[in-house]
Amino acid sequence: MDSPTASVFSLPELRDIFPGCTSYEELYNFSINETDVFWGTLARLRLRWSRNFERVSDCDMETGLFRWFIGGQLNVSVNCVDRHKEKDANKVALIWEKDEPGQEERVTYGELYTMMNQIANVLKSHGVLKGDRVAIYMPACPLAVASMLACARIGAVHSVVFAGFSAEALASRIIDAEAKVVITADQGVRGGKLIELKKTVVTAVANCPSVTAILVAKRTGNPVVSSQLDVDLDEAMIKESGECEPAVLDSEDLLFMLYTSGSTGNPKGVAHSQAGYLLYASLTHKLVFDCNEGDIFGCVADIGWITGHSYVVYGPLANGVTTLLFESTPTYPDPGRYWETVQRLKVNQFYTAPTAIRLLIKHGDEHVEKYDLSSLRTLGSVGEPINVEAWDWYNKVVGKEKCVVVDTWWQTETGGICISPRPSAPGSEIRPGMPMRPMYGISPAILSEKGEELHNNDVTGALCLKKPWPGMARTIYGAHGRFLETYYRPFRGLYFTGDGAIRHSDGYYQITGRMDDVINVSGHRLGTAEVENALGQHPSVAESAVVGYPHDIKGEGIYAYVILKDGFVANTKTESELKGIVRQKIAAYALPDVIQICTGLPKTRSGKIMRRILRKVAADQTEDLGDISTLADPSVVEDLIAHHRTLI
Ligand code: WT7
Repeated sequence: MDSPTASVFSLPELRDIFPGCTSYEELYNFSINETDVFWGTLARLRLRWSRNFERVSDCDMETGLFRWFIGGQLNVSVNCVDRHKEKDANKVALIWEKDEPGQEERVTYGELYTMMNQIANVLKSHGVLKGDRVAIYMPACPLAVASMLACARIGAVHSVVFAGFSAEALASRIIDAEAKVVITADQGVRGGKLIELKKTVVTAVANCPSVTAILVAKRTGNPVVSSQLDVDLDEAMIKESGECEPAVLDSEDLLFMLYTSGSTGNPKGVAHSQAGYLLYASLTHKLVFDCNEGDIFGCVADIGWITGHSYVVYGPLANGVTTLLFESTPTYPDPGRYWETVQRLKVNQFYTAPTAIRLLIKHGDEHVEKYDLSSLRTLGSVGEPINVEAWDWYNKVVGKEKCVVVDTWWQTETGGICISPRPSAPGSEIRPGMPMRPMYGISPAILSEKGEELHNNDVTGALCLKKPWPGMARTIYGAHGRFLETYYRPFRGLYFTGDGAIRHSDGYYQITGRMDDVINVSGHRLGTAEVENALGQHPSVAESAVVGYPHDIKGEGIYAYVILKDGFVANTKTESELKGIVRQKIAAYALPDVIQICTGLPKTRSGKIMRRILRKVAADQTEDLGDISTLADPSVVEDLIAHHRTLI
């Protein structure tokens, strides 16, 4: 627990840097009122620059143009690796917790430096230039991290694609980014099962003319499908030098893009820049988790999501700590896996998602109590609202009521944590089930349906952020118009998060969930339209509508209403075929939990589907359906209720 002598700020230096501020509240107000002084000072102190910036920020929420640390030049890989290697090359940067427990491998900053540079040289030898895009389709492993940093080394823009996505989903991301090179592994290993990564890449790349090479790392060494574009990554690295001059990049050059789901259309490539992103990821990592020199930071997210980018790779490495790369699952070989790992590796901060916590609660406390978890100081949660029961269990059973529990709200677009109980003065109150307080520089606003800001407390509405911050996304790759439309047009002059929130009477924030047609399945974001598009490609499907419903473990489950074309009759195979097409077009996590074959959907006279009704039927809350008089055919609703499928 926090000692009474600890600094009022989790980051002791902040008190010296901003001497006028003696409390969290004062510093928070300073960060909002003197934004440029606040961020400019931290950027100078926390990052290594090859050229100093001339201006801190130039941002415009109307036009969606955001520039931070203008005129500055730096290299993210130098900040994440070189400067720590210079201090102590033998310090452990990564602990790769492989699928089988007890087989962990450690990679020092010195070794990471060499790996990163060798891969950078391999990329260069395949013609990858500054600004080119590189797709990475790999599970959490040292070569994946080294590949991300290798891109940063030479100024290439990486696009990590979660290694659970199907060949088609991977191909559409490669095509959208026009990636030149794909980096993958022969196979993945997860929960004792093999995952055919290379095979998926070969299938995907057959439709991607931009790709000129596939770099293949060895994970299992089993024979896998080959293609003419193959390059054995391990062999190619040995031939290359372990030194690679870092590219000098502008603050605003792109560092990476990461595809995420929106309410309509294909997933969008959310693009982040160099300096602003790195500063924000590293500062939040340090302050929210109280992660300091010598700590072992354990974020069990996959590197294919933003949590993996900011809190497995960039934040921890920029801060020079040791970061965990978790290859396995929460229940392999048994539901004690996380806690056995924490005990064996002496993890100090642990970061996971509510869905995993709820799953482990079901398996019983005995799987936690067996292990010595005294190394833990901070427990983090991210991805979806954490219910109070799960929060209490995390706090008591895992944290023994001695850890600081932080529910962290943020998004792919925000680059790093925006609302979280810490930073705040040590010992300050933490309430279960809500992220509570804005991070320095973040100014949340609650907007009414009419688009007016609700200034009082005790209000509910759309969550927006009023002021720009360095970690914010800069654009959607190749679609700046869509970027503006999605985030800056719904409430002019503000960033709209897509989430609803409550500001309680004491000013604390609680997130109520997405306000759009995005659902959150096990902490993974999914557009209902994506699932509908996939279902629509089955020859028997005339129309479908997909909604989320409350699910015990996953947070939200996926409920699909499907209308078959005339002449098609549902049979025993229909359901598995429909699931098959979703797996083929997207990924296994997108499979509907329930498929209800129906004859009609509740549409208004203008033809718009009333999703509100579909959500209520899916959730089995049909007592109060609200006004259905505007429906073209209200009898559809009775039919839906009559054929409602019991939830799994
Ligand atoms: C959406 C963003 C940020 C990393 C993981 C997900 C939901 C995220 C919380 C939280 C309530 C949360 C929101 C948000 N969300 N964290 N602590 N409490 N909801 O990133 O895939 O971009 O999803 O996840 O709905 O908009 P993402």
